[in-house]
Amino acid sequence: MNTYLTAETIRGLREQRGLTQRALAERVGVTDKAVSKWESGRGLPDISLVESLAEALGISVAELLTGDVRENANRAGNMTRMRFYVCPICGNVVTALGEGSFSCCGSTLLPQEAEEPDEAHAIAVESVEDDWHISIDHPMAKDHFISFIAYVTTGGIELHKLYPEQPAEARIRRGQSGQIYAYCNRHGLFRIPTPKRERRGAPGVLPHYGRVESR
Ligand SMILES: [Fe+2]
Repeated sequence: MNTYLTAETIRGLREQRGLTQRALAERVGVTDKAVSKWESGRGLPDISLVESLAEALGISVAELLTGDVRENANRAGNMTRMRFYVCPICGNVVTALGEGSFSCCGSTLLPQEAEEPDEAHAIAVESVEDDWHISIDHPMAKDHFISFIAYVTTGGIELHKLYPEQPAEARIRRGQSGQIYAYCNRHGLFRIPTPKRERRGAPGVLPHYGRVESR
């Protein structure tokens, strides 16, 4: 018989979490006899208890019902795997430390694949005092513009939202090495590595498809 929850799932999850039947029962607010009944297949928790049962086991309701528990191994939670999701309708930007499922304006967003900039989207990085001045010589019309510039390192992200009729530029405090992203609403996401540290008095080092100038 197909049921929304199996005895094995409940027992397995309880044991994985090192809980006794009594401890789980207390967390859910039922008797230990009830838990024993669920685990021996002689009854199922009332549907109204599913949420508290999931909470007691430290998982989501979806994980409890499917028995597919996503343990947090922090595999994807890494800034170097930063993904950008952009809503094609409203321009909303969602950033995630890996793959995910996000929706906006009623449609599922797909992660943007970052490419090396072509000539029309070349990202220029100029050192100005302690900052990087990042600019793109690109139209900023309502139907075709650079919608954001972001600086991503292993430790953080700085995102500058840009708007039509404004210059396609951002000033970012020079920090550790990382990636600079620029997103064109028509042509997608472009990325270059941050410039290498410049020696005092030495000309800047050219990043791929970008240019660095020292003032
Ligand atoms: Fe473009």
